[in-house]
Amino acid sequence: MDSQKHLFNLDPDIHYLNCGARSPLLKSAEAAAIAALIQARNPSQITPEDFFTLPKEVKGRFAELINCDPLQVALIPSTSYGFATALGNIACKPEQHAIVLEDEFPSGYFSLKTWCDRHHAELKVVGPDKETTTQGESWNKNILESITSETAVVLMSSVHWTNGLKFDLESIGQKCKSVGAIFIVDGTQSTGAAEVDVKRFKIDALICASYKWLFGSYGMGFAFYGHAFEGGEPLEESWLNRTNSQDFGNLTHYDHEYAEDSGRYNVGEMSNFILLPMLNEGLKQINEWTVERIERYCRKLTAPLYEYLKSLNVELEDESYSSAHLFGLKLPEDIDPELLKKNLEERKISVSNRAGKLRVSVNVFNKVEDIDVLIEGLESSRLFK
Ligand SMILES: Cc1ncc(COP(=O)(O)O)c(C=O)c1O
Repeated sequence: MDSQKHLFNLDPDIHYLNCGARSPLLKSAEAAAIAALIQARNPSQITPEDFFTLPKEVKGRFAELINCDPLQVALIPSTSYGFATALGNIACKPEQHAIVLEDEFPSGYFSLKTWCDRHHAELKVVGPDKETTTQGESWNKNILESITSETAVVLMSSVHWTNGLKFDLESIGQKCKSVGAIFIVDGTQSTGAAEVDVKRFKIDALICASYKWLFGSYGMGFAFYGHAFEGGEPLEESWLNRTNSQDFGNLTHYDHEYAEDSGRYNVGEMSNFILLPMLNEGLKQINEWTVERIERYCRKLTAPLYEYLKSLNVELEDESYSSAHLFGLKLPEDIDPELLKKNLEERKISVSNRAGKLRVSVNVFNKVEDIDVLIEGLESSRLFK
């Protein structure tokens, strides 16, 4: 695979290494949004079928990506909405606890903290061993060891959002199943850029914002709810989530049945006529590229950066624990943070600062030059060479 930058309207002189914050817009998504706006000039062009056709198509594409039945997918406006739905349907027996990762993204952390407070359950925060320089092995081991027959729910990101550290979702999902714990995964920082297979990983609920690795739009994301959530209670009662909602003439023949499977969990106004066409283009493109090829491209692209960091004796995670698309650099001591900031700005390099690390994230719109310029910016910020 070669760089796909030509499919985006990124400014040519900007080195955008920040897909972990927000993806740039695909040209096709921009065109779809403009077409949707033009269509909105004349609402009579929008038919009753249009309320359902695109949600179905988009869910189908997401289901293909994560290996589930499209009926198990719901459209959600934010990850917090998806967590609230899942946690609202999880009971807690006396003495049970919940598990979250150290430095988990706040939407997940607060959702689970609130659940614990409501159920008077302990919230266990699991991190890596403190004395290790690399975290992957000990963190995964600690997670597995902390899951016991008293665990009601584990909520964690598929990769750590601050540095891309990979978790062994397959073993963790297996352990959750073996003790009867519900496994909720925040897939925002890897779905679309790395394999997330809900069947293989035995995930009960997968919650994803779409505006990063799914090339979607802010305000529209996905939730997969597996069998544990069948027949559960939604957060709200949208008219669109009833089995008769397509029959516009008979909506007040109130139908007390919900739409099939996760259809009950869609956010109200799920048929967002501007955002869904954009999201659809993103998913179409990812499924065409394939996640495997995206991952391979990102790994190859960042190889010179890894080599450079190794040459500076920076401690790096083993490849089996590091994502190809997202990582947090612990800066070598001889790099001056203020000088680096200035050098990055001068070179128009966009990265993030997360948890004291320089978070670099790459995707198929990046080119070798972006990494070269970053290495050059880092090298120019060293005080003692
Ligand atoms: C792991 C993770 N989850 C969720 C989000 C944000 O999701 P939302 O804006 O829908 O709460 C982010 C944003 O950076 C994230 O990194």
